[in-house]
Amino acid sequence: MKLPRIVRLIGKHVVKATPILRRHILPSADYRVLGGVEDARSAAGSSDGWFAARTVSRQERAYRNLIADMHRGEPRLDLRIAAEAVAATGIVSPGLIEIGCGSGYYSEVLAALVPGGIGYTGLDYSEAMIARARARYPSVEFQVGDATRLAFPDNAFDIVFNGVSLMHIVDYQAAIREAARVAGRYCILHTVPVFEAHDTTFLRKYAYGSPVVEVVFSKNELISLCEKAGLRLERQWPCIPYDVAEVTGHRSFTETYLFAKSGVS
Ligand SMILES: C[S@@+](CC[C@H](N)C(=O)[O-])C[C@H]1O[C@@H](n2cnc3c(N)ncnc32)[C@H](O)[C@@H]1O
Repeated sequence: MKLPRIVRLIGKHVVKATPILRRHILPSADYRVLGGVEDARSAAGSSDGWFAARTVSRQERAYRNLIADMHRGEPRLDLRIAAEAVAATGIVSPGLIEIGCGSGYYSEVLAALVPGGIGYTGLDYSEAMIARARARYPSVEFQVGDATRLAFPDNAFDIVFNGVSLMHIVDYQAAIREAARVAGRYCILHTVPVFEAHDTTFLRKYAYGSPVVEVVFSKNELISLCEKAGLRLERQWPCIPYDVAEVTGHRSFTETYLFAKSGVS
């Protein structure tokens, strides 16, 4: 039964106005700017963040409707762009690893939306996330591992796909170098929050009830780190809205980037 609009509006207002409710109900709440990388390391180390069982189940629940919409033929913009970026590589049925795969739903999204499908492997450093992914997609390959120290040889996958996880990795420089190393041909950084003209900034927020660290990148710094790692920007797409101007004073947005490994045409 659908509640009357006025009741829904009051409900939303009460959730937003009450810290304990908004932190536990909203996917993102209570942003705070952190002092710098050391502050970010200590904030990340002092929270169970992505390892908490409640984060896993709430994150999965948040995406259930999105997946249902996709199967009804109405994929949200970010899901469409992910598939478009993979298709833009021109590789038929590529071997792809998703770094920071969470509960693994991009395996379903890319299988449904990329013509010809993909050979998918999912990796996440949260055992709880990987356990949920394996339970949900028993025939898909998932591994526990850290984006900053990948246990794969050079050029192991046609495509390294980083879906909404680079922004949660404090040592993002190492994650970019590792992505470039294990990518045989392309790296896709999907839904990356960036500033056009402001320094990379570390934030702390509540995600599904748990404190996590988030990085909003200086676009110039991000692109130049990727170039130093041997990647060349081929295409970019504006993706879903994300503006933290209220806490940083600078407008931010998300983009998806397709990088080719240098020497690959
Ligand atoms: C916002 S979720 C994204 C999940 C999924 N890709 C999606 O698009 O919804 C971020 C994921 O990155 C993972 N993550 C954060 N730091 C990581 C690291 N250093 N190595 C591997 N995974 C990491 C978290 O455990 C979490 O599952």
